[in-house]
Amino acid sequence: MEYQNIIVEHKGVTAIVTINRPKALNALNRQTLAELRHFFGEGYKAIEGLRGVVLKGAGDRSFVAGADITEFTGLDAQAGLDMAQNGHDIFFMIEQFHVPVVAAISGFALGGGCELAMACHLRVASEKARFGQPEVNLGIIPGYGGTQRLVQLIGKTKAMELLLTADMVKAPEALQLGLVNYVVEHGHELDKSIELLQKIATKAPIAIQKIIECVNSYFNATEDGFKREVLEFAQCVNTEDFKEGATAFLEKRPADFKGK
Ligand code: COA
Repeated sequence: MEYQNIIVEHKGVTAIVTINRPKALNALNRQTLAELRHFFGEGYKAIEGLRGVVLKGAGDRSFVAGADITEFTGLDAQAGLDMAQNGHDIFFMIEQFHVPVVAAISGFALGGGCELAMACHLRVASEKARFGQPEVNLGIIPGYGGTQRLVQLIGKTKAMELLLTADMVKAPEALQLGLVNYVVEHGHELDKSIELLQKIATKAPIAIQKIIECVNSYFNATEDGFKREVLEFAQCVNTEDFKEGATAFLEKRPADFKGK
């Protein structure tokens, strides 16, 4: 697929995916969602040895200012169902992605933008970033997982307030609420995101993938996360990387993990 609205670059084994619609504050239109679906479904395979992805918006005003409101006219209930389901499917692909995805948030992360950031595994925000779920201003509710992931990340009390009032939260409060992992000086979001991914890339790849799966399974009502952990632990014990990790510790040297 030839991308029109996202730019994929890579710095070593880290992919940097930029949503590139700055004139619309990087709003997610259908084409952009299709491109994100393609990248997280198969496009990533072109990057050999991929160990992490940074997702960011073009320019420094916005991560993503939500779904593209210009595509809202003429929607009926069926189209609404399709739209929300499409967003859910893509955001689950990101949440379940086999390597960590970090949202580098320079400015607005509103509506679908806040939902996209929340589907990522980690979030690094500029001190100028703003978060919110303003959908009730438009007569709708969040449709890309916002009513669920906001509660998961910050708890029901504050999530309910933000969803009902459509209030925006500034970066320091987002940090205090546990909505983001780090707040950094404006312009340093990408560097900090890459730094985090580089640290994670020194760890055992299979263990990292299984951490993502087990943590996600806590929030999956159809799954017993504790049972999953037992099974995945056993799988890790069966890897060459486990032998290497334990041996390297005993030999007092850094481990050389192969992802096997
Ligand atoms: N969809 C489509 N276009 C959007 C957009 C969205 N979600 N958010 C911003 N844009 C466009 C604006 O229409 C404007 O386009 P124009 O220059 O052609 O008029 C451009 O991006 C810049 O936005 P503007 O509103 O002029 O910037 P601002 O600094 O005054 O306000 C926001 C920034 C983010 C507060 C404001 O754009 C906003 O409220 N956007 C909608 C957020 C939202 O409701 N998201 C949830 C959608 S479900």
